Amino acid sequence: MTMPKRMVAVSWSMLLCLAAAAAVLKARAQLDSIGFISIDCGLPGTANSVDDATKLSYAPDAAFTDAGSNHNISVEYITPTLAKRYLNVRSFPDGARSCYMLRSLVPGLKYTLRAEFKYGNYDGLNRPPVFDLYAGVNFWSRVNASSQKVVVLEAIVVVPEDYVHVCLVNTGSGTPFISALELRPLKSSLYPQVNATQGLVLLSRRNFGPTDDADIVRYPDDPHDRVWLPFVNTARWEAISTSNKVRNLDDSEFAAPSKVMQTAITPRNASGRIEFFWLSEPQPGDPTPGYIVILHFSELQLLAGNAVRQQHLVLNDDLRFWSDYTPPYLLSDTIYSMKPLPRFSRYNFSINATANSTMPPIINAGEIFFVFSTANVGTDYSDVSAITAIKAKYRVKKNWARDPCVTNNLTWDGLTCSYANSNPSRITRINMSFSGLDGDISSSFANLKAIQYLDLSYNNLTGSIPDALSQLPSLLVLDLTNNQLSGSIPPSLLKRIQDGSLNIRYGNNPNLCTNAASCKPAKGRNKLAVYVAVPVVLVVVIVSALVFPFLRRKKQGSTSTNITMRPQIETMMSYAPATLPPGDAHTQSSLHLENRKFTYKELEMITNNFQRVLGRGGFGEVYNGFLEDGTQVAIKLRSQFSNQGVKEFLIEAQILTRIHHKNLVSMIGYCKDGQYMALVYEYMSEGTLQEQIAGNGRNGKLLTWKQRLRIAVDSAQGTRQLCSRQPRMMFTVLVLCC
Ligand SMILES: *[C@@H]1O[C@H](CO)[C@@H](O)[C@H](O)[C@H]1NC(C)=O
Ligand SMILES: *[C@@H]1O[C@H](CO)[C@@H](O)[C@H](O)[C@H]1NC(C)=O
Ligand SMILES: *[C@@H]1O[C@H](CO)[C@@H](O)[C@H](O)[C@H]1NC(C)=O
Ligand SMILES: *[C@@H]1O[C@H](CO)[C@@H](O)[C@H](O)[C@H]1NC(C)=O
Ligand SMILES: *[C@@H]1O[C@H](CO)[C@@H](O)[C@H](O)[C@H]1NC(C)=O
Ligand SMILES: *[C@@H]1O[C@H](CO)[C@@H](O)[C@H](O)[C@H]1NC(C)=O
Ligand SMILES: *[C@@H]1O[C@H](CO)[C@@H](O)[C@H](O)[C@H]1NC(C)=O
Ligand SMILES: *[C@@H]1O[C@H](CO)[C@@H](O)[C@H](O)[C@H]1NC(C)=O
Ligand SMILES: *[C@@H]1O[C@H](CO)[C@@H](O)[C@H](O)[C@H]1NC(C)=O
Ligand SMILES: *[C@@H]1O[C@H](CO)[C@@H](O)[C@H](O)[C@H]1NC(C)=O
Repeated sequence: MTMPKRMVAVSWSMLLCLAAAAAVLKARAQLDSIGFISIDCGLPGTANSVDDATKLSYAPDAAFTDAGSNHNISVEYITPTLAKRYLNVRSFPDGARSCYMLRSLVPGLKYTLRAEFKYGNYDGLNRPPVFDLYAGVNFWSRVNASSQKVVVLEAIVVVPEDYVHVCLVNTGSGTPFISALELRPLKSSLYPQVNATQGLVLLSRRNFGPTDDADIVRYPDDPHDRVWLPFVNTARWEAISTSNKVRNLDDSEFAAPSKVMQTAITPRNASGRIEFFWLSEPQPGDPTPGYIVILHFSELQLLAGNAVRQQHLVLNDDLRFWSDYTPPYLLSDTIYSMKPLPRFSRYNFSINATANSTMPPIINAGEIFFVFSTANVGTDYSDVSAITAIKAKYRVKKNWARDPCVTNNLTWDGLTCSYANSNPSRITRINMSFSGLDGDISSSFANLKAIQYLDLSYNNLTGSIPDALSQLPSLLVLDLTNNQLSGSIPPSLLKRIQDGSLNIRYGNNPNLCTNAASCKPAKGRNKLAVYVAVPVVLVVVIVSALVFPFLRRKKQGSTSTNITMRPQIETMMSYAPATLPPGDAHTQSSLHLENRKFTYKELEMITNNFQRVLGRGGFGEVYNGFLEDGTQVAIKLRSQFSNQGVKEFLIEAQILTRIHHKNLVSMIGYCKDGQYMALVYEYMSEGTLQEQIAGNGRNGKLLTWKQRLRIAVDSAQGTRQLCSRQPRMMFTVLVLCC
């Protein structure tokens, strides 16, 4: 009795597993069983809608875009024959550019993209909008919507990656919307005019011969689901047809479906011609598009002994497109232009019988396209994958849908990209500060190989700092301040910090252990580190204060006792308002490893060739500069004649980069590049205390003796935070007072 029971249990769990796996597959795969993607845009819920004509199943669009909202078209535009996918739309009132992302494609393969727009006064404004449509980052077409008609736009493109974006761009002429979106794979040998840098936009695809306007051929008669509309003019043209199959050769470049090829037209007037024309439609950015014409022929009648059907194909009366052409019997054949036709405003096509022909001319089908450039490449594929994963993890709802970089002014909010000619754009900077991020730091950040600057500050990130971030070759700045990160800084990152190739900021992460070797409960650790560093710092402080007591005043023009003096470049000392208790909770964030190592070249750039001198000391001159992120800095460049030794300089650099306090100037980094040595500090914009004391500060005011005394006392307090040895402190006070 137990055996069958267990077997039942096993098969049930297997079934559950299989069901779960199937659900995952279904959620991830976007292609249906025949490799199509069919989307009913604006369809709510999770159930697909099935098209009555093709029996193709159209998925709701929520899985393909995260912008916009659903709407129904107005009832007065609903007719009994209107396909279900046109009953609702998705509209995009927010954002300049809104996109669908179609995934699971084969990179390098050709695809037909088809977007459909049925306005149907869904917004009650009775004003069909005009907007632009993009295939990836390439302009595809302008959409001029109509209340009555369904506007259908089709393009054939090579998709370079395993995904493609279809984007709607607001041009200021109404809210973009879309009714349906379809993607169909094509064999690479089809449409040889299409390559990686050139796509085709469909102007017209006609099937000649049907006598009923509703007789549309598409899937399953055309396995590629091209839509062949009938061209009906029974007054001028006589239809001929066959029930025999019209074959395609294996290497056919267009694979016109038999159903289309089984009908043809011939002029009613035996001496007449077959004529058709189209007008050049100027496109935004291309006033004279280059047209490609593709004409399909097959002889459908078994001609008697000496009967001949031979025809000329003529463009605009005198250009012989093709001469003496005889269509093959029950075999699909195509005459087409490989390069765009010469540019005209009107294209008159005529097919007439040659002098030798005993039969009138025929034609079975025709397609007219214009070429468009697909030469713009999107963002680097791995960057897109990484940022897409990041976006999903943190449920980012900014304008983050479409290619991240596109053009300079349409990149995602908080992203900066590099644009190199013909190379994919790369993401170089991410600012996701103040974005309400929670959870751990996504491992996908480590896949952004070109990133230089990553700002995740002021979020609620938890967990530890991923080791993998140290593998980012170009990363210069990593800002993790004000989060809830825990654990210790991975050794690999510490190494990058120590060799000066990375500047990492991680203050205000209460649970973060900043010294892997001596990680202890947070508070004790910080104190220990401060005490160890203090004696050396103090020596530097005292010596500097003695020789170059440059101190800066923070608030310009303020004469009250509430003036805030900030530490100075040379002395590392400051005057803080007496109301702030020294040694308060700020010590919590006092440990910083900000020792970015600068090269001399970088300093040249930061200071714009050492243009502005802020001050001068025994150490050398102090220059004004700006970091890449705009931070104003003061750069103390050691002069050759400095009386500070190289060793002392390096010690100062190492200590100061590890100490951060409100009463000390933040050191950002240092430079030791050959003979050049420099320290880079946060810039104090209010001038030096010495200037204040001497009365030659930028505000030109002299400090009162009362203020001087307060400065002295508060400086001493600032020093006391670092050291409890009173005598030296008093010494400093004396120096300042004199
Ligand atoms: C659209 O119409 C369907 C039924 O026809 C209704 O269930 C749905 O709520 C409507 N949606 C909106 C956004 O009005
Ligand atoms: C859109 O189409 C309407 C009518 O078909 C036309 O009057 C209008 O000029 C078109 N607008 C644009 C921008 O092409
Ligand atoms: C694509 O075709 C166009 C026109 O024939 C040609 O100029 C271009 O070089 C081709 N591009 C590639 C990548 O082959
Ligand atoms: C038939 O063609 C001839 C010669 O081109 C022309 O004179 C005649 O009007 C045409 N008839 C019709 C019905 O088009
Ligand atoms: C095309 O045909 C029309 C009507 O027959 C004529 O008016 C026009 O001049 C022709 N255009 C060209 C470019 O041949
Ligand atoms: C067919 O058209 C071409 C170009 O207009 C002309 O040269 C030729 O004579 C025509 N052939 C016949 C049989 O009318
Ligand atoms: C047309 O017929 C003549 C006489 O039969 C023949 O010499 C000529 O080659 C034919 N032309 C074509 C293009 O078939
Ligand atoms: C974006 O830049 C392009 C070209 O640099 C310009 O034509 C376009 O108007 C700009 N768009 C916006 C929204 O600023
Ligand atoms: C980063 O983003 C925040 C919030 O949007 C903004 O306040 C800050 O200025 C940005 N930083 C830089 C360097 O652009
Ligand atoms: C972090 O989360 C807490 C509670 O979960 C919330 O109150 C706080 O606003 C969040 N902070 C940020 C910066 O998102």
